[in-house]
Amino acid sequence: MADKLSFKDIEAKIADLLSTFYKELEPVKSVVWDSVSSDLTLRGKDAAGNDTVALVESKTKLQDLRTRYSGKKSELSTLKRSIGLVIPEDRAKTGQAIQKLEISITDPLTQMEDDLNVKISEIRTAEESIDVTLPGRRPRRGHRHPITLLRERIEDIFVALGYAIEDGRELETDFYNFTALNIPDNHPARGAQDTFYTTDGFALRSQTSTVQIHAMQRRGVPVRMIAPGRVFRRDTPDPTHNPMFFQVEGLCVDRGITMAHLKGTVAEFLRRMFGPETVTRFRPSYFPFTEPSAEFDFGCFKCKGSGCRICKNSGWIELGGSGMVHPNVLRIVGVDPQEYSGFAFGLGIDRMAALMYNLDDIRLLFENDVRFLEQFE
Ligand code: FA5
Repeated sequence: MADKLSFKDIEAKIADLLSTFYKELEPVKSVVWDSVSSDLTLRGKDAAGNDTVALVESKTKLQDLRTRYSGKKSELSTLKRSIGLVIPEDRAKTGQAIQKLEISITDPLTQMEDDLNVKISEIRTAEESIDVTLPGRRPRRGHRHPITLLRERIEDIFVALGYAIEDGRELETDFYNFTALNIPDNHPARGAQDTFYTTDGFALRSQTSTVQIHAMQRRGVPVRMIAPGRVFRRDTPDPTHNPMFFQVEGLCVDRGITMAHLKGTVAEFLRRMFGPETVTRFRPSYFPFTEPSAEFDFGCFKCKGSGCRICKNSGWIELGGSGMVHPNVLRIVGVDPQEYSGFAFGLGIDRMAALMYNLDDIRLLFENDVRFLEQFE
């Protein structure tokens, strides 16, 4: 019969099909081999910069070959269907040859798919496994600013000496910042402590001495308090000046308070702050709200008085102003200066921090560079 096929017809087709299959298989084989032997990761790239996509692409290429060469619409499938058209005496041989052909096509594909799957699962395991020997990630702990650390030390010392801690206001009226402190309008001291004003007549306080007035008005006398806080001045920034800085004010008013109490208190504070051998000295000075007034220095904690860079070779470090509360200040808060007397002092915390931490520029304190600030816990 004309439509009957012989083994020979089929054999030729098998040979053709195998040869085209092998030709197509060869490049895919080398892509798969590259993927399987590379150090690819699923998410990243390998050392040579190849993308992980290569693994997935290799799998797709294999699937494509499988569909084209052994799928329902493949030539192999057509050949299988044609077995029935082969003459009976050749049929068994033809069947065997087609079966062999199928194995020749599917075996290498299956082998390569298995290799790829092993590689992918190895990568997954490596990426998902946890290395328990790796150090944990330590949560970043915040810490206090060097000014806060110093302020707390100062507070601890004065609390131990029986002083209360007062919180002042940063925005003040002209009365509290100047007038009540015996600095009337047009007094030159207003120029030296020029500050920032709001359009409706308030001023950012230029010194913590304002808290003296609030404390005496609220607590009355006798009073013993310190008031640490932020103050503002129209000073041009330089290594020892900032337009915003911190001061701590001290006030003690009672019957019979004298300059000796002031000297004893400041000296004791500095001894507790810088060590028992610390020496203090007072120099006459002028402040409108104290009379007499004195500035106080202490013997350099670095060179112990012999002279060094910190104390500019003088052996002494300037720390703040002080004096006996002016009778006008007592009067303005309704305290009789005939009955009561008191002392007050004020010092700059930023400059004290600069001395303690050996900083050559106080502006570093407010540049907010974490690498700098982290050093002070
Ligand atoms: C006063 O402010 C007075 N209220 C101190 C006082 C209080 C005297 C009580 C008498 C009785 P003075 O202007 O000197 O004084 O400032 C005190 C300290 O603030 C200075 O010693 C200095 O350490 C610091 N200081 C002043 N200006 C600046 C600035 N621009 N930047 C940083 N620190 C400053």
